[in-house]
Amino acid sequence: MYAGAKAFFYALSRSASLKGLASKYGMRSCDSFARRFIAGETVEEAIETSRRVQAEGLHLTLDYLGESVRTAEEANAATRAYVRLLDVIVAAGIERNISLKLTQLGASIDRATCVDNLRRILEPAGRHGFFVRIDMENSPWTQMTLDIFETLWQQEYRNVGVALQAALHRTERDVQRMNELGARVRLVKGAYKEPETAAYQRKADVDAAFLRLMRILLDEGTYPAIATHDPAMIDGTRAYAAGRGIGKDRFEFQMLYGIRRDLQAELSAEGYGVRLYIPFGREWFPYFMRRLGERPANLGFVMRGILREK
Ligand code: FDA
Repeated sequence: MYAGAKAFFYALSRSASLKGLASKYGMRSCDSFARRFIAGETVEEAIETSRRVQAEGLHLTLDYLGESVRTAEEANAATRAYVRLLDVIVAAGIERNISLKLTQLGASIDRATCVDNLRRILEPAGRHGFFVRIDMENSPWTQMTLDIFETLWQQEYRNVGVALQAALHRTERDVQRMNELGARVRLVKGAYKEPETAAYQRKADVDAAFLRLMRILLDEGTYPAIATHDPAMIDGTRAYAAGRGIGKDRFEFQMLYGIRRDLQAELSAEGYGVRLYIPFGREWFPYFMRRLGERPANLGFVMRGILREK
């Protein structure tokens, strides 16, 4: 079930025609259920959501949705949108933290374009005290993502970190490398359907890898982010940190907007830093499909919503 549903929704997420229809007709086409996971299509909606999240004592990272752009113009437009977003965030006075994907900035066109675009964002982001997290995409992009990250790190950009996926066989090496550099890692399970050669296929194996990597990050990492909604992963992290005397200020939990609000509030009340990943924008379809793939029961909510509208 785990791998099957993930593969099905992953295939849908990559459908260019469905993605085009979703952007054209807007979020109503997928029922307001999509709004549970996505702050809206406009930056104003994202800021409004961010304010609400901050008022609840939670931290945030804003993600302007988009990925796999095919032309330099699209990559340039996404870069400009991010630079504008920085200004809007500064003006709104909300927390200065963003997340982005390198295939949105032109990694699929050529590496140099992507490096230039990322630098165009990191430069003003650094000046204004932002932290920029590079999301991790599917495994064909892992090496390029880490190479681009290191290129900018060597150029003294320090306001940047990466996400690493526990599901991939290679990740322990990548965690060690990031720890050597002193770079901040967001640990996630991994949202993409991957081949056996690259990744564990069974949930139990992904979970075991997540816990192993969490321990390495807590011991040797720089302010790691443990990004999961899985109570077993969260309990494991709490217990390990407490046992080793690792303070709550040395790491944070992260969750996706709209998922397990009860757990977000509970951890925050216990004094842990909890950061929400808040996505917004018209290119919400692939992100939404990945969320459905993680929990097939979500599909029932979508279908009920669509039927209600008929
Ligand atoms: P798991 O999938 O085992 O779910 C545990 C529990 O969480 C479920 O039982 C359910 O209660 C709840 N849950 C999980 N997903 C849900 C959903 N969609 N709807 C409703 N409930 C749900 N991935 C990636 O490949 N690259 C990246 O850069 C990122 N970035 C990222 C940032 C942040 C802040 C988070 C939290 C996650 C990511 N991810 C990601 C996604 C990640 O890889 C993973 O797919 C999801 O977090 C789901 O895995 P869990 O760890 O929650 O465990």
